[in-house]
Amino acid sequence: MSAVIIDGQAIADEMRNAIAQDAARFKEQFGYAPGLGVVLVGENPASAQYVRMKRRACEAAGMNSVGHLLPADATQDDVEAAVRALNDDPTIHGILVQLPMPPQIDEARVLSLVSLEKDVDGFHPINIGSLAMKGRDPLFTPATPTGCMVLLERMGAKLEGANAVVIGRSNIVGMPVALMLMKANATVTMCHSRTRDIAEIVRRADVVVAAIGKANYVKGDWLKPGAFVVDVGTNKIDDPAAKNGYRYVGDVDFEAAKEVAGAITKVPGGVGPMTITMLMHNTIKAAWRIAQKITL
Ligand code: GUN
Repeated sequence: MSAVIIDGQAIADEMRNAIAQDAARFKEQFGYAPGLGVVLVGENPASAQYVRMKRRACEAAGMNSVGHLLPADATQDDVEAAVRALNDDPTIHGILVQLPMPPQIDEARVLSLVSLEKDVDGFHPINIGSLAMKGRDPLFTPATPTGCMVLLERMGAKLEGANAVVIGRSNIVGMPVALMLMKANATVTMCHSRTRDIAEIVRRADVVVAAIGKANYVKGDWLKPGAFVVDVGTNKIDDPAAKNGYRYVGDVDFEAAKEVAGAITKVPGGVGPMTITMLMHNTIKAAWRIAQKITL
């Protein structure tokens, strides 16, 4: 069996075109563009690169982006002041606080300060709490997990009653994607670094979301034939054959997995472009809500 390979970049491009058209309609109606505000603290190269990509993608779709780029030794007050400035700025509709923050910053306090109606990353405790509760819907859901759910939908995965295994329990991906799968009526098992017999658990899964941050961690023979596999990992590995001496691989051993899975995402070009797209989607949604004065 050979899996259907899901091209996240193509799906993301198609969605970004629709978002750009929506942004143009917004601008025509209100006379200004939807705006994203970004807070980045420190010089973590991966975070800086993500932020650049997010801002560029928003601008390419006709949105504004405003950056508060703070030094690595910024204080709690500095970061909170940046968030407050974006909360109070009427030209900003969505706020992204890039994570992780340096250790001197109380991340939970910063995230709870983001205006609920501008919380396009979905990390405000009220949004995450609503995601965890039955019968409640958050205003926004986090970008990477939402991208995973769109990719599963495009694969044709039936989630109702399915056994879904999430590998990794981060606040940014594993935990929220497990909550989203549960909301979609899947039976969810979360695996993490302390889980025993992980291969046996994965073997029962109709759906696998791998977000543990370890190169080629999930082996092909762990998978149930026909499983739907979403690979969130982006791991840099040495590759002397590559021009710059490295390349990126996912958390799943792609070459082996594609012989067993029913459908699988690529790395790069899978979840990554979808993450940025879902942030753009949330930002334009926030802009319409704020401009039309929809109350919470
Ligand atoms: N760091 C890694 N991924 C993300 C994300 O989706 N949002 C934020 N805010 N920080 C991240």
